[in-house]
Amino acid sequence: MTPPDRIIPESAAPNHPGEREIILSARDVCVSFGDNLVLDHLDLDVYRGEILGFVGGSGTGKTVLMRAILRLIPRQKGIIRILGENYDEVEEAKKIKLDMRLGVLFQHGALFSSLTVRENIQVPMREYLDLPQPLMDELAELKVAMVGLAPNATDKYPSELSGGMIKRAALARALALDPDLVFLDEPTSGLDPIGAAEFDELIAQLRDTLGLTVYMVTHDLDSLFSVCDRIAVLGKKRVLVEGTIDDMLSFDDPWVQSYFQGKRARMIPGRIDKQETKQDPGQNPAGSKKSEAE
Ligand SMILES: Nc1ncnc2c1ncn2[C@@H]1O[C@H](COP(=O)(O)OP(=O)(O)OP(=O)(O)O)[C@@H](O)[C@H]1O
Ligand SMILES: [Mg+2]
Repeated sequence: MTPPDRIIPESAAPNHPGEREIILSARDVCVSFGDNLVLDHLDLDVYRGEILGFVGGSGTGKTVLMRAILRLIPRQKGIIRILGENYDEVEEAKKIKLDMRLGVLFQHGALFSSLTVRENIQVPMREYLDLPQPLMDELAELKVAMVGLAPNATDKYPSELSGGMIKRAALARALALDPDLVFLDEPTSGLDPIGAAEFDELIAQLRDTLGLTVYMVTHDLDSLFSVCDRIAVLGKKRVLVEGTIDDMLSFDDPWVQSYFQGKRARMIPGRIDKQETKQDPGQNPAGSKKSEAE
């Protein structure tokens, strides 16, 4: 038996009015590779329509969790429910239908280098749908426009694109099947601050116009302060805290304090200074690089 879908009251999701549907929930998730226990009894909720920023030191398991949620790597324990369904309990045909409602932008190697942008965007269409080529072409062109790329980018190869264009093209591919929930693993890494801010704006626009839910792994403090509705912090092999920026600023943990109240975070324009850092708390409790925050 799995628990029924939970409805979380406003008090538990303070950024949003009314009751909110949980689109993704992870409960008691454990993932290890041999002796390397990466995730240990992790819980996480993502609400429909939100942009959730998922942060944590390098090597703490952010990508592993995303891959475990997407069933790309096995987990040893725990229940993951997506779009109201427990993947472990649904039949294969339903799994495919559920997969079609998820879009993914991976951290590295976002696009197939031997395919044009058009062909990259059409990969999920070919995998899951049986559409005539002219319709797939029209859809690919639509997705290219949706992510703010010029039409002439459609027939370029990834090697002919800038880093920012590659991210946008990869986002277009993630949106190929009109998903409900998109997973973005460090979508703005490697972009200059202006490109990153534009990408954030694009994500917010797409969320607003398409009603997307966005699960975004990021180290980008600007994104966390400007575009994320809520944030979850991975540390000590589990989610240490999830909530609003205010919740992060007041959360009593050295790494969280260092990250959100550190020198770089304090330089973000317009940030709410609930508490100024009294001292640099130093080490990340999860044993990861402090340099992530500084
Ligand atoms: N397929 C795998 N096989 C064995 N170990 C793995 C595998 N994938 C990840 N790991 C290990 O899991 C841990 C977490 O890795 P992960 O890639 O999730 O980190 P991350 O939080 O995404 O870091 P970053 O911010 O640098 O991207 C690391 O110790 C990594 O070596
Ligand atoms: Mg990663």
